[in-house]
Amino acid sequence: MPIDKVTENYHICQCASGLINLKNRGVDMETKISTEDVSAPGDSILETGTENSRLEGELPLREDHITSNKEPFKCELGRSRYSQSNETNGTAIPVIEVIDVKKSYVLGDLEVPVLHNINLEIREGEFLAIMGPSGSGKSTLMNLIGFLDRPTEGRIIIKGLDINKLSDKEVARLRGLEIGFIFQTFNLIPRLTALENVELPTYANSRNGVDPRERAKELLKLVGLEDRMSHKPGELSGGQSQRVAIARALINDPAILLADEPTGNLDSRTGSEILNMFRRLNEDGRTIIMITHDPEIAGYADRVVLVKDGIIQSNTE
Ligand SMILES: Nc1ncnc2c1ncn2[C@@H]1O[C@H](COP(=O)(O)OP(=O)(O)OP(=O)(O)O)[C@@H](O)[C@H]1O
Ligand SMILES: [Mg+2]
Repeated sequence: MPIDKVTENYHICQCASGLINLKNRGVDMETKISTEDVSAPGDSILETGTENSRLEGELPLREDHITSNKEPFKCELGRSRYSQSNETNGTAIPVIEVIDVKKSYVLGDLEVPVLHNINLEIREGEFLAIMGPSGSGKSTLMNLIGFLDRPTEGRIIIKGLDINKLSDKEVARLRGLEIGFIFQTFNLIPRLTALENVELPTYANSRNGVDPRERAKELLKLVGLEDRMSHKPGELSGGQSQRVAIARALINDPAILLADEPTGNLDSRTGSEILNMFRRLNEDGRTIIMITHDPEIAGYADRVVLVKDGIIQSNTE
């Protein structure tokens, strides 16, 4: 299955349990998502789940960032404790460790090696750009970092948790709460409004005490789309769709933002608006990992990793 299809299905799968909730809540969105939409890729780690979740209670709840339903949501994107801890200790904490990772795809009898022995440490609060030629394995690496796929060999550690030792359900929870994805092709659901698209991930995973609708509205305001909330993706421009995708990625207040060619389809003005927004999010303490072909865009990052033929060629501050 092509990566695009996997990532497209990811969003839909993320919403699969939301379908039930939507129905339970009796909102009219239930009629807008058909059962065909929730089919999972056959080889996806998303397909199965286990009843037992060891992560329950272990993930940081970040109550300091949770707002009460009674209070107006203040869009607290801050993660000041990350930068503070970095300043205090002089060293940053690794949030993601990629250790001796290899990835091959199997096509019939043929094994296609894509990533060879990747080692990468991403520090908390870092803004990292991943560059490299087309086909070099950037999206494959991002999918592994974001737990959309599992490595053939090696380990990915996020906040000290080894993905290989987690159940699929635990991985889904960790991903749903801690990682925000922004895909090049936006992957918005056409039948839902901008507001519903932003809110949708909360039906699969959400934080206690947050009113999802209010947060979705605040995020859409933050990206300058308060007057487009009821527009469907087909009624939005490319840049506006990208901004809806950014708002959706932030709905669960994730610690890590993964963006694959986030400005690839945008005009330069909208692109730089979005990059400035990334900068602000990063200054507020989020870890940002951005794939780009463009050295000028990579210039927004603190560090650039160059991937070529599935190998990290250089790693420059
Ligand atoms: N599901 C798959 N099955 C088989 N091969 C795949 C699959 N996904 C990706 N590949 C192959 O893996 C290699 C790396 O693909 P990947 O999408 O990671 O590249 P990329 O660096 O993101 O490229 P681009 O800049 O064009 O987006 C490519 O040769 C591609 O054909
Ligand atoms: Mg790619």
